[in-house]
Amino acid sequence: MKHISVNNRHPRLLSITTSCISLFILLVLLFWFHNMQNTIEDEGASHLDFHFTYSTVEGYFLQSEKDTDPTRFDFKKENFGLIPRTYDSDPDHADPKEQWRHFEHHVRQLNQKTDEDTHYKVLFLGRHGQGWHNVAESKYGTSAWDCYWSMLDGADGLIWADANLTAVGEAQATEVHQLWDSLLPNGIPAPESYYVSPLTRALKTADLSFQNLDLPKDRLYEPVVKEVSSLPQLETQAHDKQLLREAIGVHTCDRRNTATYIRNAFPHAQLEAGFSETDPLWTADYREPELARRYRLAQLLDDIFAHDDGVFLSLTSHSGAITETLEAIGHRAFALETGGVIPVFIKAKKVAGEREQPPKEPSAGPPPCPSPPAELSN
Ligand SMILES: *[C@@H]1O[C@H](CO)[C@@H](O)[C@H](O)[C@H]1NC(C)=O
Repeated sequence: MKHISVNNRHPRLLSITTSCISLFILLVLLFWFHNMQNTIEDEGASHLDFHFTYSTVEGYFLQSEKDTDPTRFDFKKENFGLIPRTYDSDPDHADPKEQWRHFEHHVRQLNQKTDEDTHYKVLFLGRHGQGWHNVAESKYGTSAWDCYWSMLDGADGLIWADANLTAVGEAQATEVHQLWDSLLPNGIPAPESYYVSPLTRALKTADLSFQNLDLPKDRLYEPVVKEVSSLPQLETQAHDKQLLREAIGVHTCDRRNTATYIRNAFPHAQLEAGFSETDPLWTADYREPELARRYRLAQLLDDIFAHDDGVFLSLTSHSGAITETLEAIGHRAFALETGGVIPVFIKAKKVAGEREQPPKEPSAGPPPCPSPPAELSN
């Protein structure tokens, strides 16, 4: 009662108080908004002016060693290639059954001890199992495939546009599943992220490899279709968006399906924000050349190293994509069979400045043949 009477007696005082409070709230809001904008701008700016330089940490996986013969090497029989050894972080432990646990401990220690601009990650790079396009390329021969058949959606009862896996390809992916299944109890670190190319054969391979595994709760198989980078500058460079894909253009097997199709066929897969309904990049007459592909895969690594705190990651993609990833990290050449997986131990160092873009090269591959070339023996 008294309160009201005070206010009634001093209406001007009341209105001044209200104004002051309003002004204060307004200032707080403005300040907050201004700060938020700065944060966003800062992030955008810092993304624009750095990239990473990559190197392969040798001596941990057989595949990085010079005397390993890729044509004879079977990662399934060799514990993914992990070299049995001791680590200086963990000198007392040499139980070979515990090798993966020691290795994980070692890698995490390296990350802890290093400066903030240096990161270590282990990427499991998986090539899709055999697809119908692989069958067709063998059937027609590579030169006839490249100049003619690859441009069709299919022929002779085969369909290879956005090729699906063959039964052989499914079996190869299932073998990868069995390998994980046998090594998880021995402490192999399950991937912390599962990146997959948007092409059907890669999605299907990742599913067969990782679904129904006994994975730790915080590392369940939740595939992320890696197409659009979260780095702002990449979103404006259409040519570099499809980061985890195979060489883009000309071959119909490398043209992706619509987002709707992918959502229906692989409802558990998460499409990154900005994933467009139709393939925005594939064109019938320009096939991405090697340097552009290498640049794209290095940008994929930049994106992952800038945004993914995980240390053990899975990427399921394609032979060309894996070749250029190995190139980007200074790893020796190591061709994979369909369904092959190679773990790579990477050291990344953040450096100032944008990644240098390669010059625009002419379309890769031979000029198109007007009609099916005569069956060649090649
Ligand atoms: C791929 O082939 C399998 C087996 O024939 C089939 O079940 C599946 O639906 C196909 N997937 C797509 C996405 O076409």
